This record gives sequence, structure tokens and C-alpha cells, in this order.
Amino acid sequence: MKLADRVNKIQPSPTLAIDAKAKALKAQGVDVIGFGAGEPDFDTPANIREAGKKAIDAGFTRYMPVGGADDLKDAIIAKMKKDHGLEYSRDEISVACGAKHTLYNISQALIQEGDEVIIPAPYWVSYPDQVVLAGGTSVFIETGEETAFKITPAQLEKAVTPKTKALILNSPCNPTGTSYTEEELKAIGQVCLKHDFLIISDDIYERLIYDGLKFANIVQVVPELKSRTVVVNGVSKTYAMTGWRIGYACGPKELIGAMTKMQSQSTSNATSIAQKASVEALNGPQEAVAAMKVEFEKRRTYIVERLNAMPGVTCFRSTGAFYVFPNFSAVYGKSFNGKVISNSTDFAAYLLEEAKVALVPGVAFGADKYARLSYAISMENIKKGMDRIEEAIKNLK
Ligand SMILES: Cc1ncc(COP(=O)(O)O)c(C=O)c1O
Repeated sequence: MKLADRVNKIQPSPTLAIDAKAKALKAQGVDVIGFGAGEPDFDTPANIREAGKKAIDAGFTRYMPVGGADDLKDAIIAKMKKDHGLEYSRDEISVACGAKHTLYNISQALIQEGDEVIIPAPYWVSYPDQVVLAGGTSVFIETGEETAFKITPAQLEKAVTPKTKALILNSPCNPTGTSYTEEELKAIGQVCLKHDFLIISDDIYERLIYDGLKFANIVQVVPELKSRTVVVNGVSKTYAMTGWRIGYACGPKELIGAMTKMQSQSTSNATSIAQKASVEALNGPQEAVAAMKVEFEKRRTYIVERLNAMPGVTCFRSTGAFYVFPNFSAVYGKSFNGKVISNSTDFAAYLLEEAKVALVPGVAFGADKYARLSYAISMENIKKGMDRIEEAIKNLK
């Protein structure tokens, strides 16, 4: 069969692939510690589950407006006002099947042949491939642990060209766990004001921010940018609702309308039942979110300390999301049973085979010196996994 060329231009999501591999090994009875997961290990809170069940019994099982039900849009509007002081109307909101789908709709509605999208690296795996699928080109701004994985205004200025169509900002960030301060966003915002491109603010990890830091997105700190910023968020990470598939965008009416039009010819509405549950997530009690955050922060502190204590390993103390992004490059060039570890892919394969630990090689995020570990697993398993990695590094010659 001759498939369309676009299929070969992208990779299957490497993070989902690693997670699937670890789960398959576990299913075979192998005792694998999986640091690959991109989802909270908690259950969806009971009140939200209940709202979903009620929605089924109340008959919310039919087609709905493509861009989202009014009650969910109103819950999003209230959330944006309460948490961020930002005002939106219903026609500035679009609900899709997850934030990933929301971002896909944005890329399809906005990007075309010849357009450039600026993406800070390390980046979330889907950004570049979504740009490719839309016919655009990614322009990466390289960052490293020495700058806390953050771009500077000067770097941004240098990356902008007449072809720049959009900039993607993701804070707290997957995979690095870094988060920008208000001052840093203000400085970046000043560069944005000098040019004319859309800012895509991926706020999906907004509630998972540590060390007493306060979340802000670029529109909050530079309100003049509101007319050309689209804020992307969702319920997956905050409310442990990854399987429910609800994400949303808040942004300029014209873009939101175009996204909804694109969606009308693909998925139609996001699941009616999940939308009802998401109304409860946003409007209901928020204690479960706070409890998850406390647990994640505890794990973050532990895992960063353990990694930094390993010979040759350095690990940036992440301030958000549920990932750490240690630099393992000191082990590259070493070998096990005569097999040389040359890069992050080799190292991840070695750990999976010899130590039964799954992590995602940094190359998937555009940073081969590093690897991503998710600490959305129990403290007990984190400890076990750290012991195994430490031992595996010692066994390298
Ligand atoms: C940075 C970032 N954005 C968006 C998403 C998509 O989330 P979902 O599609 O589950 O809402 C993810 C999920 O891993 C992510 O890490």
C-alpha cells in the first residue's frame, strides 16, 4: 500500500511508545519500574467520576455543539477569570479531545507551507510533528540546564524572521519541569510586542508548580498580547483525567472559529460525558488537586537529590509538572559487556534491559544529553528505580 508522504514525515509519539513497552513488560510479569508515564498516578477524584456517571444516566450521550457545551465553556470562562484575571466570551473558547487535539487544531488552522514556528528546546514531543503535519517548519531555540532550560529575550529576538507565524511557550514545561517567572515572561513579551506572530501558551501543567512559585502565563503579565495569544489548557494533568480527553483553547475569535471549523470535519464534539465531568472538575472542590501537588513536590525533591548524588549525573531542580530531566551524558562512551553507550537511546535501552527501568531518552525532546523521568509513580517505586539506576551506572566500565 502506498501511504501518504505525511505519515513518513513524523514519528509515533516516543513517550507513548516507551510507556507501552514498559506496560507490556509488566504484563509479562517482568518487574519494571516505569518512569515513562506522562500522567498522574492518582485516580480521577470521586466527585468528578460521579458527575460522569450522572451524565450518562441523565442522557448526555448525544452529539453536542462542536466547540464545546455552553456549561463547560462557562466553567472555563469562570476559571480563566478567577485564576488568571482574563476575560473571555464563549466564542473565544473551543473544547477538543485533549490539549493535544487542541494544539493540533491550532496548527491546522494557523500553519501552512513556508511558515515558521519557534519552539524552545527541549520541547514536548508533539509540537514539532504537529508543525510538520501542517506543512510548517520548526525553529528551535536551544536551552540547557545552565540556564534552567529557559529561553532569553535575546535568543527569541534572534530566532524571529519574517516567516515566524507562532511561538510556543510551555510553562511548567514537559520535559524539563522548568517554569518561567512573571519577570521572565514580561521580558519575552516585550520581544513579542515588537513582532507580529501568535503566541501559543500551553498551560497544561499550570497547577503543578512548586517551591512556592506562582503560576503566570504571558497574557497575564503582558495584557497587550491577549489579541494574539491562544491559551491551551485541559483537565488531564490537573484532575488526573488523562483518559477522559478534554482540552480547551481560549483565544482570538477568528482562530477559535477556524479551529472549530476544522474539528467539525474530524472528531465533531469532544465526548459529551467527559465534558460534564470536566464542568465538575473546574467548578467543584479543588482539594484533590492540592493534595496531588503536595505529593508530587515531595517526590520531586527526593528524586532530584538522588539523581544529583549519582556519580557524573547532574539534575536541574525542576519547579513544575511531574518530570525531571537529568543530564546523563557523563556515562556516554562507557560500556557494559563490551557494548558502548553512545547516546540517550543506548542508555535508555541499557537501563530497560539490564536494570528493568524505563525512561524516555532525551533525543525524543531534542536534547540527547538528557533523559526524562516522570515521578508520577509511587514513592516506593521511585526509590527502587533510583537504586537500580545508581547500580546500573556503577556497572558501566
Ligand atoms: C506539554 C503538554 N501539552 C499538552 C499535552 C496534552 O495533554 P492532553 O491531550 O492529555 O490534554 C501534554 C501531555 O502529555 C503535555 O505534556
